[in-house]
Amino acid sequence: MVVKKSEFWSIKKDKKVNRAFVLVKTENMEFPICLYKMNIDVYSASLLHCTHRGCELNVGGGIYSCPCHGSEFSVTGKVLEGPADRDLKTFKIEMDNDNIYILQA
Ligand code: FES
Repeated sequence: MVVKKSEFWSIKKDKKVNRAFVLVKTENMEFPICLYKMNIDVYSASLLHCTHRGCELNVGGGIYSCPCHGSEFSVTGKVLEGPADRDLKTFKIEMDNDNIYILQA
């Protein structure tokens, strides 16, 4: 999967607006992948699929949170708050000047 780095910003009223994350949906996966920009040219890709009972996670406030029973995960996919006790599935990333490639194992 390829995401253009330019998707992390847009021009609104002549101002450059940065986005913290881009959601990537693919046909062969039931849940979206969140590509989160941690820093300049540092990104993390996690599957938004709660490891507790499988709900889709919400993105907001710099974390991923589960609407079902309240688990919370960091944007690198680590459990911050239960009941989930396993980290999220994450993906390796490669980059060139313009693009970010999410590698599926
Ligand atoms: S399914 Fe996410 S906390 Fe239970």
